[in-house]
Amino acid sequence: MAFRLSRSLLASSWLFSAIILTDAAPSRPNIVFILTDDQDNHMGSLQHMPSLQKHLVHQGTTFERHYCSTAICCPSRVSLWTGQLAHNTNVTNVNPPWGGYPKFVQNGYNDHHLALWLQQSGYNTYYVGKLFNAHTIDNYDSPHVSGYTQSNFFLDPFTYQYYNVSTTKNGAPPTNPVGKYSTDIVAESANEFLDHALQDDSPFFITLAPIAPHALVGEGSLGGFDPPQVAERHEGLFPEYKIPRTPNFNPDSPSGVSWVSKLPKLNDTILDYNDEYQRRRLRSLQAVDEIVESVIDRLEQAGVLEDTFIFYTSDNGYHIGQHRLHPGKTCGFETDINVPLVVRGPGVPAKRVTQVPSSHTDLAPTILRIAGIEVGDKKFDGTPIDIHGKDTEPRSEHAAVEFWGFGLAESLFGRENGPPIYLNNTYKGLRIEAESYGFYYSVWCSNEKELYDMKADPGQLHNLLSSKERDIDATITIAGKQWPLAGVADRLDALMMVLKSCKQQSCAHPWKSLHPSGDVRNFHDALSTEYDDFYSEQVKVSFTNCEAGYIIESEGPQGFHTFEAGEGHADGGIYDIPEQQVLINPDWSLWE
Ligand SMILES: *[C@@H]1O[C@H](CO)[C@@H](O)[C@H](O)[C@H]1NC(C)=O
Ligand SMILES: *[C@@H]1O[C@H](CO)[C@@H](O)[C@H](O)[C@H]1NC(C)=O
Ligand SMILES: *[C@@H]1O[C@H](CO)[C@@H](O)[C@H](O)[C@H]1NC(C)=O
Ligand SMILES: *[C@@H]1O[C@H](CO)[C@@H](O)[C@H](O)[C@H]1NC(C)=O
Repeated sequence: MAFRLSRSLLASSWLFSAIILTDAAPSRPNIVFILTDDQDNHMGSLQHMPSLQKHLVHQGTTFERHYCSTAICCPSRVSLWTGQLAHNTNVTNVNPPWGGYPKFVQNGYNDHHLALWLQQSGYNTYYVGKLFNAHTIDNYDSPHVSGYTQSNFFLDPFTYQYYNVSTTKNGAPPTNPVGKYSTDIVAESANEFLDHALQDDSPFFITLAPIAPHALVGEGSLGGFDPPQVAERHEGLFPEYKIPRTPNFNPDSPSGVSWVSKLPKLNDTILDYNDEYQRRRLRSLQAVDEIVESVIDRLEQAGVLEDTFIFYTSDNGYHIGQHRLHPGKTCGFETDINVPLVVRGPGVPAKRVTQVPSSHTDLAPTILRIAGIEVGDKKFDGTPIDIHGKDTEPRSEHAAVEFWGFGLAESLFGRENGPPIYLNNTYKGLRIEAESYGFYYSVWCSNEKELYDMKADPGQLHNLLSSKERDIDATITIAGKQWPLAGVADRLDALMMVLKSCKQQSCAHPWKSLHPSGDVRNFHDALSTEYDDFYSEQVKVSFTNCEAGYIIESEGPQGFHTFEAGEGHADGGIYDIPEQQVLINPDWSLWE
């Protein structure tokens, strides 16, 4: 257990004063990380979890604009545990050759990930539940996952069978505890691992990764995706619940581009099926909510609750019915990329809600900072999140989004014309969120583009760049002023140009790559008319082919112009993306 101080240590007056000075922030806090699978942030799932509300939302901070960069399990989880964007890990999908556990290992990440770093600096580390896709009953030991003191991993092909999951405990050959509800297995191992952790003097890091509310796969009606199974004690809950009928729910006019714009309107049979689908997701989350309650209880009994950070998030979001979509993820829409994030812990303000954007790549550096571990030569594309709400510097306002491969309908419907797969779902996205403006911009491998004004059109129904809606003289209101749409799009495209192949500092501070002088620090600065020519003449994001993975040759130009201060035009020359130095500079002063 952490922070049990022996009397002899307390007798040292130096240490005693240090303890007084550091106040609420222990130097080696415990960290509990709860990671659900496919949990939505836009259909009320958090509001249906009373223990989560009571112990985390009301006792901690909710990050309302937290994003995953790739809205599908494996790439997103690899980004979480490595702090790198998928274009840098090149784990871009769920199965080899593009992704999955084998690709994680092949690309060297079994030797470079958060749990391992924590373990190497003296933490006891634990994991229970799903780690990655394609982590299977055949490859679980070749090699074993590194970095965990104890583990109980769920393995493919049984990961999503709620009553017949395969598990490997501490590296032992897999077994299927048939008939046992998978989230209850997570609860059981959580208890056991916490017992182990609390008996030891080292601090601990434990991840609880239930399957809920992911679809049931491979056992249901059609052998495809079906709604999740529910623990018996939660059957029948929320009979009145319906998915919120927001303006973007099953809209009269199609939305989006590419395959999304061709989806037919959903009929009543499908709407009923979808409402029940989401009710079952909410029911499946009740077993997770019980885990929140029991973990809090256990930490409180042990007297370490106030020395423990608890993170609650999901690998990616989920849509059901918005934009006429069948249940699923893989899209760049807000439903899919904006994920829950709630944090409680020493010094984290209670009942705080923040709109400052953050991203999954920020979580590994955030946790290292909490644990007091130096970044060293680790290559993070994110920066620590201001969980204490104390930063005075404005944080960056962007989240990079990227996707390769196919979209998927995780439903009984959408299978009528063959496999429920939508090809060419390869795109770059970019989300900007500030107080007076918000945008989602995307460029697809078909070179179709989307631009939504998120303040005027939060449901993303009016693509300002669609050929139908596009008006050459159109303007956008930003901070009370009119700006030409074309100029806004040029700036967003240039930002995407940097982010789509950024590394480390250029991911965190992309405007600096365009304006090395440092004069432009955000989108609003870049709007200045003095940069109009620079941005209209900038190299544009484009694709030459739709690929299922990160094939750089199909992703258009890789260099861009930089703006040289004082010259007033785009003559900085083509800038080739350099291997940049890690410059994350943890600000330890925040911890005093
Ligand atoms: C459970 O999984 C095992 C494989 O580990 C399989 O052989 C068996 O058929 C499954 N049982 C059920 C009820 O699905
Ligand atoms: C709705 O569409 C589905 C799938 O195409 C079809 O099976 C069903 O019969 C339709 N229901 C109604 C009420 O039209
Ligand atoms: C996918 O894109 C390729 C071009 O990159 C095109 O040849 C193919 O027809 C597209 N397929 C679909 C289903 O849109
Ligand atoms: C990413 O991995 C794929 C599959 O192994 C490979 O074909 C591709 O070249 C890799 N991309 C980059 C940019 O390394």
